[in-house]
Amino acid sequence: MTKRYSIAAIPGDGIGKEVVPAGLAVLRAAAARAGGFALDVTEYPWGSDFYRATGRMMPEDGTATLRKHDAILFGAVGDPDLPDDLTLWGLRLAICQGFDQYANIRPIRLFPGIASPLVGADAAALDWVIVRENSEGEYAGHGGRAHRGLPEEVATETSIFTRTGVARIMRVAFRLAESRPRKHLIIVTKSNAQRHGMVLWDEIAAEVAKEFPAVRTERVLVDAMAARMVLKPRSIDTVVATNLHADILSDLAGALAGGLGLAPTANLNPERHAPSMFEPIHGSAFDIMGKGIANPIGTFWSGAMMLDHLGEPAAALMITDAIARVTAAGLLTADLGGKATTAEVTAAVIAAIEGRNL
Ligand code: NAI
Ligand code: MG
Repeated sequence: MTKRYSIAAIPGDGIGKEVVPAGLAVLRAAAARAGGFALDVTEYPWGSDFYRATGRMMPEDGTATLRKHDAILFGAVGDPDLPDDLTLWGLRLAICQGFDQYANIRPIRLFPGIASPLVGADAAALDWVIVRENSEGEYAGHGGRAHRGLPEEVATETSIFTRTGVARIMRVAFRLAESRPRKHLIIVTKSNAQRHGMVLWDEIAAEVAKEFPAVRTERVLVDAMAARMVLKPRSIDTVVATNLHADILSDLAGALAGGLGLAPTANLNPERHAPSMFEPIHGSAFDIMGKGIANPIGTFWSGAMMLDHLGEPAAALMITDAIARVTAAGLLTADLGGKATTAEVTAAVIAAIEGRNL
């Protein structure tokens, strides 16, 4: 019997509108090739154009509408004429927070044919997963401003660390580390300088570690971690870090593995009380939007993560294997030094999935 998964697609703004349709085409090809399941896709035209028309980034009942889907494929938000905090909080963060997608998973690997800026790096040097706390920490939205415009104006941006929030992200990270061959987890911290939240973070990490005796752990300060990613990449496997720290480290990781256009991410609600959301890590890329040259691979890989999450690992592997075949063949977009268009890379990945010549 054919299983059916209900997918919400939200292209959003800029190149999101180019890479999400490409991603859907690749997902459909993988589903057809793998067999046994089908995707029922509903597209939602939410984002900055929707805001200009309605005054909202998504309808008031947007999250209620999305809740009935099994997963969400998201493009990007961001518009040259609208404030970034409005677009981000109005759509992407509203979904992440509304669905308690507290675990942000960011795999890093070096595909064949991709040059890393890191001298001597190969596929074995760059095979990491960064687990980012996605619901609290430095991006909890807690704080305020007073005395606006006056000399004594003040703004606070308070980090929030809760026992529940830290324990649950640690468990996700430990489970993931345990599932990987090296069973090694680096806990990124800054408890030397941040004496409250980060100390709680460290204490809970040590408590949760007792539940996972097979996992070897290390505690590394975030600044040292940035250096280690560049100097000793082979010593890294699974990494867990706060919202802010992982945001920065994962951009560095993405750059080391060939750039923003390749990197995927999953915003998971691990308990599956609500749909999870899968998206490339890049933004709406004002400078290249509408040109048809956006790299769609980050979206394809995000789609593969979505299939994995839905319980279709064979189809997910078809997508990542097809990406590797296409990058190995040198069919690359301009951000990777090539000349291929979004459409050409998409057609080649679909051909690889279907077992045809590129
Ligand atoms: P960006 O990721 O949109 O672009 C940064 C640079 O990388 C640009 O030069 C762009 O052309 C290039 N780039 C990004 N993705 C690419 C791809 N797939 N193929 C080829 N080149 C690619 O980040 P930026 O410029 O800081 O932000 C632009 C807008 O996107 C802003 O409004 C920002 O708030 C928003 N943004 C949204 C995100 C999201 O929706 N998850 C994440 C990051 C930024
Ligand atoms: Mg970022």
